[in-house]
Amino acid sequence: MLLQWSEALEVGHPIIDYDHQMLIGLVNELDRAVQMGQGAEKVAQVLDRLSQDIETHFAREEKLFEQTAYPLVEKHKQHHRDIENLVRTFQAAYEENPASIDLNKLLKFLKEWLMKHIGKLDKGYAPYVEKTEQKTDYVQRKDFA
Ligand SMILES: [Fe+2]
Ligand SMILES: [Fe+2]
Repeated sequence: MLLQWSEALEVGHPIIDYDHQMLIGLVNELDRAVQMGQGAEKVAQVLDRLSQDIETHFAREEKLFEQTAYPLVEKHKQHHRDIENLVRTFQAAYEENPASIDLNKLLKFLKEWLMKHIGKLDKGYAPYVEKTEQKTDYVQRKDFA
């Protein structure tokens, strides 16, 4: 089953929401490559892209946290590091020996993780981002008044 984006997953920051849609798209691309038997080279390529994009996305989120009063920064960052390591480990093992990885299990894990990451963990910082943005708007408006 492919993942589906919905408004319920929005954290309200356009770049972060775009990142999340892109990550959903990549997991779906991996799913299609596996189900349609597009071959190990294609799977390795999508896995590589996915782990790179996950890392870029995490870095963006963490930069955003610095501008907010979000209290769970350290816990959230640790979660990011754990996922990065895990995905990199899967990716390296797949490149070494594609037969060593159960792709359906990996897909199941990635789907559950991503939906939880967006829907629960990331949703937790949404109110702080909103507050910061409102404050920025106000400051900007005042500057131009
Ligand atoms: Fe995220
Ligand atoms: Fe996150």
